[in-house]
Amino acid sequence: MTVADALGWAQRLLQGAGLHEARREAEILLAACVNRERAWLIAHPDAVLSSLQRRRFEGWVRRRARREPLAYITRRAWFYGLELTVGRGVLIPRPETELLVEVFLRWAAHSKAGSPILVDAGTGSGAIAAACLQHAPQWRGVGIDRSRRALRTAQVNRRKLGLTARLMLIQGEWLSALRPRSVNAVLSNPPYVLPDEWSALQPEITQYEPRMALLVPADDPLMPYRRIAHDARQVLRSPSLLAFETSPRLAPLLAEQLPRWGFANPQVVRDYSGAERVVYVVRD
Ligand SMILES: C[S@@+](CC[C@H](N)C(=O)[O-])C[C@H]1O[C@@H](n2cnc3c(N)ncnc32)[C@H](O)[C@@H]1O
Repeated sequence: MTVADALGWAQRLLQGAGLHEARREAEILLAACVNRERAWLIAHPDAVLSSLQRRRFEGWVRRRARREPLAYITRRAWFYGLELTVGRGVLIPRPETELLVEVFLRWAAHSKAGSPILVDAGTGSGAIAAACLQHAPQWRGVGIDRSRRALRTAQVNRRKLGLTARLMLIQGEWLSALRPRSVNAVLSNPPYVLPDEWSALQPEITQYEPRMALLVPADDPLMPYRRIAHDARQVLRSPSLLAFETSPRLAPLLAEQLPRWGFANPQVVRDYSGAERVVYVVRD
């Protein structure tokens, strides 16, 4: 089977499964499968796949046709310019989460914290902590998650990005493992999908991504934020930043509650689609 044959077959299968970008996805899968850039495929339509490559590619395309996310199949995701390893049981980092990194980096560029430390609460793949540390070289970080599987993936990314000496990873409940006045920034993208939003999500999310990373209870949707903010009052030292990613639906509620939890003057930042996405509080 040639590259052109493989792409034609995959495109038809993926189109039949209702995927709108079937050609692009077929190219991404084949490029990852043969360990080349997509441009190489276009330049070499007559190259012949080995039987191993062909079998692996067919398996990957069938998985994608069952709506498994591309990132789980290729085990790769991009976040803030970093190539991360991901896999089942770990949330695939989203582009909108890059705004949380930007809020941190803007603040960190002017903060006068000495030996500064950030915490990424609910670190998942380690995406937020890794991106912040890559661009703020004087900072060290702690990534916390209750999921062992997530932490194993974060360990892989920490090693791959050369951050082993600067990023500590801890299995635990939000900030409970941290000492009082030990960190300058608490960043978190906690679960924030409400049960009534679940059925409108793509099958890639509902059938494959970990529910624990996404869903909050309908009767107490701010629960993760409240628990993190409650502990953040103890663990933050000045100057400090508390910054959360959230949904446009929860952002106004979170901004209203933060002063009641001891964090006055919350600021709300919109993402590139205009949706209220990050809520943060700075203290001198
Ligand atoms: C929305 S995901 C965010 C993952 C990653 N930070 C990102 O932005 O791609 C939320 C993460 O919080 C973790 N989590 C959920 N409840 C937790 C808890 N009680 N304590 C610590 N981590 C928790 C989940 O395992 C998941 O990795």
